[in-house]
Amino acid sequence: MATKNYDVKDLSLAKAGKLKIEWAARGMPVLKDIQARFAKEKPLKGLTLGACLHVTSETANLMLTLKSAGASLVLCASNPLSTQDEVAASLVKDYAIPVFAIKGEDNKTYYKHLNSVLDAKPQITMDDGADLISLLHSKRQDLLKNVIGSSEETTTGVIRLRAMQKDDSLKIPVVAVNDSDTKHLFDNRYGTGQSTIDGILRATNILLSGKVVVVAGYGWCSKGISMRARGMGANVIVTEVDPVKALEAAMDGFRVMKMSQAAKLGYLFVTATGDKNVISLSHMAAMPDGAIVANSGHFNVEIDVAGLEKKAKLKRNIRPFLDEYTLPSGKRIHLLADGRLVNLAAAEGHPSEVMDMSFANQALAAEYLVKNKGKLTAGVHVLPKKLDETVAKLKLKAIGAGLDMLTAEQSAYLSSWEEGT
Ligand code: ADE
Repeated sequence: MATKNYDVKDLSLAKAGKLKIEWAARGMPVLKDIQARFAKEKPLKGLTLGACLHVTSETANLMLTLKSAGASLVLCASNPLSTQDEVAASLVKDYAIPVFAIKGEDNKTYYKHLNSVLDAKPQITMDDGADLISLLHSKRQDLLKNVIGSSEETTTGVIRLRAMQKDDSLKIPVVAVNDSDTKHLFDNRYGTGQSTIDGILRATNILLSGKVVVVAGYGWCSKGISMRARGMGANVIVTEVDPVKALEAAMDGFRVMKMSQAAKLGYLFVTATGDKNVISLSHMAAMPDGAIVANSGHFNVEIDVAGLEKKAKLKRNIRPFLDEYTLPSGKRIHLLADGRLVNLAAAEGHPSEVMDMSFANQALAAEYLVKNKGKLTAGVHVLPKKLDETVAKLKLKAIGAGLDMLTAEQSAYLSSWEEGT
């Protein structure tokens, strides 16, 4: 590469990154299938696609799929702590894809990198958390006219986009990839469930069996976390604000209570709600000495880290991604990964087997936006059910599962009303 149209930690890490990308590819047969079709049909030929995603080995495989579709790509991180530096290096060195992402980058660099992606004047953008689209609609509005559409990966991003739409601020069509069933039912539940526990264990090496684990929220992500913590023998308490979800948690067999009560009982606390200050300073003050606090929601707003920083009389880094804060009372609180998403910061994010479906949806969303150029209204769109079913069928085939088909008699029965008791 003649000019330095990238910013990664160290290109000499590329060899390790390439092996990691190849390893992840083994778990992504659906994406591979789409990649083979894209290589023939070139649905993104001549277009520039700017992506703001967690720079992982799974994302690298998505980038290769989009490249095979004929797109020019530029990628930045969607979180300052989620980049796998060796993967970023390999994308630049081995695949000539410009990447702007360094694990641990400060906020200023994070936004500089987002701007570098927009400098490429993308016609399609891809987000995980909606930071790129938000920048596009605020400081870089001049670029909006080039954009055919965008896609969004995560629940938090979709919530932000719907708020923009409600405000009449969203000027382009955006596909909410998160809302595909083959995304949130698998990635959010099984992916977050496993990778969150993975991140917590890598950061702490604690035993979960017999511990009281408090999970804030009971959406798809927190359901997965609760389920997996219970599976490892933890005694799980759920906190919620939504009465239906709270009831669902109770009937799934979890204790459900207010955070102010749970704070006194928990050993490990995990947030995945998408909202702010779910664990406040007063909650932390009520926790038992030695409590561990982690977040798996997209933004680092769920735990009042600033309040903890201010109040603590001592802070020590104990291990990578594990800081101990001593409050004036002498109580110690352990915060993982600065309150940023623990599954990507302290571990490697969701396994490739679930990202396979999420990123198949992302690839199909890019194709869908181009195929429907000029026909989609500005606002949030969901991929057609047919595409969801295509992804599910490809995955079923890849895992060797059979699928029954309705007989003609069964189909007719389902669309009739005359036959009853
Ligand atoms: N989000 C959660 N896990 C991820 C992964 N492995 N790659 C990209 N984005 C993710």
